[in-house]
Amino acid sequence: MADAVREIYSRRRYPALSHPETHPGVIAATARCGGVVAPALPEACRLLEIGCASGHNLLPLAARFPESRFVGIDFSDSAIRKGRQHAEATGLANVTFEHADVTEWRPEAEDFDYVVAHGMLSWVDDRVKAALFELVQGSLAPDGIACIGYNTLPGWSLRKEAAAMVRALPDLGADAMGVIGELAEAAAGGATPYAAHLAAIYRDMQRKGPEIVAFDDLGPVCDPLHFGQVIEWAGQHGLRYLGESTLSGNLPPGVDPAALARLEPLAGDPLRFQQTLDLLSGRTHRSSLMCRSGLTLDPATSSSVTLHFAARLLVRPLPSKAIHGEIIEHFHAALHAAWPSAMPVAGLMEECAHRLGPRWDPARGAKTVADWLYRAARFGWVELRTDAIELDSRSPVRPALSPLNRRFAKDRDSLVDVFHRSCGFPETHWGVVEALDGSRSADEIKALARDQAPDLDVGPWLDHLAGRGLLWPG
Ligand SMILES: C[S@@+](CC[C@H](N)C(=O)[O-])C[C@H]1O[C@@H](n2cnc3c(N)ncnc32)[C@H](O)[C@@H]1O
Repeated sequence: MADAVREIYSRRRYPALSHPETHPGVIAATARCGGVVAPALPEACRLLEIGCASGHNLLPLAARFPESRFVGIDFSDSAIRKGRQHAEATGLANVTFEHADVTEWRPEAEDFDYVVAHGMLSWVDDRVKAALFELVQGSLAPDGIACIGYNTLPGWSLRKEAAAMVRALPDLGADAMGVIGELAEAAAGGATPYAAHLAAIYRDMQRKGPEIVAFDDLGPVCDPLHFGQVIEWAGQHGLRYLGESTLSGNLPPGVDPAALARLEPLAGDPLRFQQTLDLLSGRTHRSSLMCRSGLTLDPATSSSVTLHFAARLLVRPLPSKAIHGEIIEHFHAALHAAWPSAMPVAGLMEECAHRLGPRWDPARGAKTVADWLYRAARFGWVELRTDAIELDSRSPVRPALSPLNRRFAKDRDSLVDVFHRSCGFPETHWGVVEALDGSRSADEIKALARDQAPDLDVGPWLDHLAGRGLLWPG
């Protein structure tokens, strides 16, 4: 099976993607909430990515944090070559790509504050899974944090069967996507919740598209895992579970808040609590943080750690039931005004104090804000990160993509925004994206779009890109 995995990654190119949940600024904030005393900051860290493909996750981090060091390993020769070419062409000297197999490679006299393995564990056989955990254990700094992504059971159970049927029924369509389309239609006709669930699975495969489905649902290894199993393997390799890589990852969507109250008896047993949430939510993916088993965690960690982070609203506007009391009303107003930036909580609180004047009580205010922020991050209303990101959401006069994103655009690979999210475009828009090189004014770009992409409303589009930190002044 290992050969089949190697074969597909050498023959076909895995779609280039970045993964915001693997960003060290996000991981550091979550790990601090989980009791890690002083997680390395993204501005000065060493990060290893296992199975880095062509570096789409790694290169934007290296560009953003020039004082940090990044290493990627992958056994796909073509992917590593591409990663190296991007690094060289954009002058990124702080990132190294190693062409190596996880079962053989070990870092030379270096340990890492962060070890990321996204899209590996569920896509390799058990021998490689064991090697992956050994490598994580062997390369983590004493207080380092690993971020490991995998597909989960029982959410994936029916998906696995649905994928097996695509393979078993080749005559239903001209190719795998054709078969998926037929099965989606067939399931959509049913009136039961089961049929709706199955149809949604096939629709999701259609949404992912042939490039991802070939590696994921229909890949040579597609091995969704029980959370408990992963934690057991990690334990056998001297690693301990800290939580999911974002606070909201610990409370998957789709779980009735009332159900959480019913699970109160599991409060002292986070592992069983999480496994139960997997059952209730049907979640299909996890991105779990782990540290060395021996790492001492801060037993006094409280919500007050959030006061040292930067925060950004993810849900705008928040439903009024999420905002209680005068302090949070003002704090929320400051967050709302700061959007799309992720601003230091301390500064937002100062604004709040200013608005409240003599009614601001520093101790009570800080506690109220910290408790609310922690809760808001768990519910996915707010993102917490250690690195502040200040954005101007108006497009510059001569907008330009960063040199790295210009390279990605040339290859028609997704751009990566300042929050580390991938950003793709319809085929007809790419010509306009490529023209964002700082040599044209917004009016010139509009004229170009009239020819190439008449459906594109260039003004708001440029502002949208600026709000994602994708545009530099030309
Ligand atoms: C599903 S892709 C994930 C790529 C990227 N991490 C992401 O999540 O977008 C898996 C990657 O792991 C690499 N890989 C699989 N088995 C490996 C092994 N034994 N040693 C090194 N790399 C391996 C593949 O070449 C491929 O680039």
